[in-house]
Amino acid sequence: MKVLIATDKPFAKVAVEGIRKVVEDGGHTLSLLEKYTEKSQLLAAVSDVNAIIIRSDIIDSEVFAAAKDLKIVVRAGAGYDNVDLAAATQVGVCVMNTPGQNANAVAELALGMMVYAFRNLFNGTSGAELMGKKLGIHAYGNVGRNVARIAKGFGMEVFAYDPYCRSEDIEKDGVTPICSINELYETCQVVSLHIPATPETKNSINYELLTKMPQGALLLNTARKEVVCEDDLVKVFEARPDFKYISDIEPGNKAELTEKFANRYYATPKKMGAQTAEANINAGLAAAKQIVSFFATGNEMFRVNKK
Ligand code: 3PG
Repeated sequence: MKVLIATDKPFAKVAVEGIRKVVEDGGHTLSLLEKYTEKSQLLAAVSDVNAIIIRSDIIDSEVFAAAKDLKIVVRAGAGYDNVDLAAATQVGVCVMNTPGQNANAVAELALGMMVYAFRNLFNGTSGAELMGKKLGIHAYGNVGRNVARIAKGFGMEVFAYDPYCRSEDIEKDGVTPICSINELYETCQVVSLHIPATPETKNSINYELLTKMPQGALLLNTARKEVVCEDDLVKVFEARPDFKYISDIEPGNKAELTEKFANRYYATPKKMGAQTAEANINAGLAAAKQIVSFFATGNEMFRVNKK
């Protein structure tokens, strides 16, 4: 079988080498399309492949139409909002993710960004410490759990809201479960977002929620830009001189935010939460192994689309 790595944002070299070994040991061949700039390059590269490993690369019906022999797409990472799942199902392609494999990398960045915000974007003025501050984790999945673990090391008081997670499972980590979204924002000076981008969550972090946050509020986004209502974000910045927004995903209105609120806003130019050698190796190798297992035995563990 032919396996393609199609990554606009490449994996570390060591991860690509590891993927190649897993794929070739499984009796398959590997090709590589990195840092592509045009969709036409992706469409050409997928024309004869049976499997694709991607990151945040957009896989839509046009890609499926161009990939006539495609059987499986594995998103080496957690969020799969970049793949048209319905289109995949329609053409009989299996879509998987590799949950948890890059979670520590994203969590470490979240804590790094918290320090950066509390130290006034490293501008040399007197900032504040994380110890004793209340941190709200919005969605207690793989990344949220890792953020809680590290934040406790900083001496933060950690709370979590997740309607899909049992309170007992949150409590056993020494984290206080919160059962309403409003209460999480009312309680916590820092809120760290770990929700996926879905029709329900898009634009859900709005003026009403953000203005509930205590004095010195920090909203930290290492999830997806779409979950934050960007018009409301501007209104919150205007209404609250104490509010800061730090994001690992550039907002659509970055020019306005940079111009008006430069000392309270920062976004990485390219999403870098999962951009570590370790996360690339973990997620990339998991993706390769899932593909080898899929072709060998039909194993569809981690499938995320309907059949
Ligand atoms: C994920 O969903 O796994 C993260 O957002 C990382 O995305 P990336 O692989 O594009 O860096």
